[in-house]
Amino acid sequence: MLIQLKQVLGTQQLTAIAELLKKAQFIDGKLSAGDVAAMVKNNQELAMNDPLTQQLNALVMTNLLRHKTYQRAALPLRIASPFYACYETGMEYGEHIDDPIMGGQDKYRSDIAITIFLNSPEEYEGGELVIQTPLGEQVIKYPAGDAVLYPASSRHRVAQVTQGKRQVAVTWVQSSVRDAEKRELLYQLSCAREKLLRKQPTETYTKQVDSAYINLVRRWSDV
Ligand code: NI
Repeated sequence: MLIQLKQVLGTQQLTAIAELLKKAQFIDGKLSAGDVAAMVKNNQELAMNDPLTQQLNALVMTNLLRHKTYQRAALPLRIASPFYACYETGMEYGEHIDDPIMGGQDKYRSDIAITIFLNSPEEYEGGELVIQTPLGEQVIKYPAGDAVLYPASSRHRVAQVTQGKRQVAVTWVQSSVRDAEKRELLYQLSCAREKLLRKQPTETYTKQVDSAYINLVRRWSDV
């Protein structure tokens, strides 16, 4: 399941983020990659201990965590500190699969990958996120402030930026429901439940769907 999260960040936040990123000193992205991924990774990232990351996290993560679609689609248990990546002209990230276990001392399983687009697609050529899915390749290039959420088990790449600069935040979620198919079923059911609760809150079938959803989450969650 690949889901677009719309307007995770608004115009004001994007402007503040752009100002912070102008001051940022980026380092070689290979430093944060696993052995195999490092061979195909050619981008720049903000060092994890850079003081700017706290200010960026306050803007980016705060908004992501309270985004309703994110909550319903990810059923998050834990979320990683994001990487802030910059792809200058000529940079790319070849096909790879993300590490299954991440984190230093505090380890987590990467069930879901998220890319948040921090600048406008008009600011660069190329730089599409290309994700392999059972239904073929999905080519993703969203407006600034939007994000894509997809199973971290997918092979993916970032096409070469042929002009301009692509800026994104990437992070990973350990879901309380580790199975991607179960998460998709729950997401679909939760969408129906939200609508029913809003429009027909007192109907018996609304209560049945509500109970079914809540009890399936209970049955399928590990915390
Ligand atoms: Ni990746």
